[in-house]
Amino acid sequence: MIPTSSAPTGSKQSTITEIESVATSASDSLNQQIADVTTRIEHPALVGATWVNNIWYYALPSDHVKVGKTVSLHLLGDLILIGRKSNGAIFAMRDICPHQGVPLSFGEFDGEQVSCAFHGWKFDDKGVCTDIPSLCDDQKINVCKIKTRSYPCAELDGNIWIYYGEVRSDLPEIPRAHGLEGLSYGQTVTKALVPTHMDYAVVALIDPAHVPYVHKSWWWRNSKSLKEKIKKYVPAGTGWTIVKHSPSKGSLIFKLLGDYMETEIAFRMPSCRTEYITLFGRTIAASITTVTPIDETHSELNHTSYWTIPILNWLLKPLVDFGAKEFLGQDLAIAEKQQVGLKFNPKLSMIVKDSGLPGSWYFQAKREWNAATEEGRPFRNPVKEKTLRWKT
Ligand code: FES
Ligand SMILES: [Fe+2]
Repeated sequence: MIPTSSAPTGSKQSTITEIESVATSASDSLNQQIADVTTRIEHPALVGATWVNNIWYYALPSDHVKVGKTVSLHLLGDLILIGRKSNGAIFAMRDICPHQGVPLSFGEFDGEQVSCAFHGWKFDDKGVCTDIPSLCDDQKINVCKIKTRSYPCAELDGNIWIYYGEVRSDLPEIPRAHGLEGLSYGQTVTKALVPTHMDYAVVALIDPAHVPYVHKSWWWRNSKSLKEKIKKYVPAGTGWTIVKHSPSKGSLIFKLLGDYMETEIAFRMPSCRTEYITLFGRTIAASITTVTPIDETHSELNHTSYWTIPILNWLLKPLVDFGAKEFLGQDLAIAEKQQVGLKFNPKLSMIVKDSGLPGSWYFQAKREWNAATEEGRPFRNPVKEKTLRWKT
């Protein structure tokens, strides 16, 4: 409060009051404007902490696990051993020996069972102990009661997925890239390790507003040509789909062919963005980008690109690898910069209309998934059909 006792006249008092009142109404109006364009995340405790369970997470490309071999991954807060048996079937189990904690991946795999490097205990593909070599013939114990955690796993469209959560007979669907039904295709996977909780990576994945600033490349686009975009979102599955539309003409390739192309982009829980592009109505390219938590502060981003002219693998694979590495590298670089600020625990206006609304839907879907899991009921999609506008 500005002291007014020395004010010789009422007019000065009135001026000061006016200034205060103008300042107050300006700040009210600013707060209102901020409220108008931001959406409160109702459960901030869900932001940057925990991940949903009873769901499938991306693990790695199928061809990274050869027949008779195993691979050890640090994902989902655990060490996970993924192997491929002699008959080609894959399996996944906790990569930690329940005897004295040595990762089983240091041991041997004979195409059927893994044996631990420390005392040679053997485990089958379900993580059940089958042999303790140090036992004498008369020292009978029920070895099959000794287990390491087994993870359901599955292969789909050239990738391996791990189910994280309570194992039931009705596991949910594995998210998959759309638009590839009935087509043969080539594919390549690009991976980036992101030093953030998966939530920040997912929000960035579905946020259009960062594209002109983060994904600047001479062959793609720059931030100078911002144009208004209008996209229709409809609820679908465990997320939403952006109704098929012509790609924006911000980049050279879409300027040349955009009139004959269409794209459909979708998001499904827990962290999967899919896209496919058609030319004259036929899919020419598709992708699925996923985020898998490593732990509470790190995650793995995997981008699988598919193209439907496999005969051109020799040409397209290096080109697609180059483009995907550049894109993911740009996302990684901004995620690293974001961490510099996040370490100070700032209060964030994370969800700004309209471009940020999908981020808000993600947190709503996360909350709903947890509630549905706890209550043992089907997921009710919280997304409502909406047309969003933004400038990018
Ligand atoms: S630690 Fe694995 S057998 Fe002993
Ligand atoms: Fe990005």
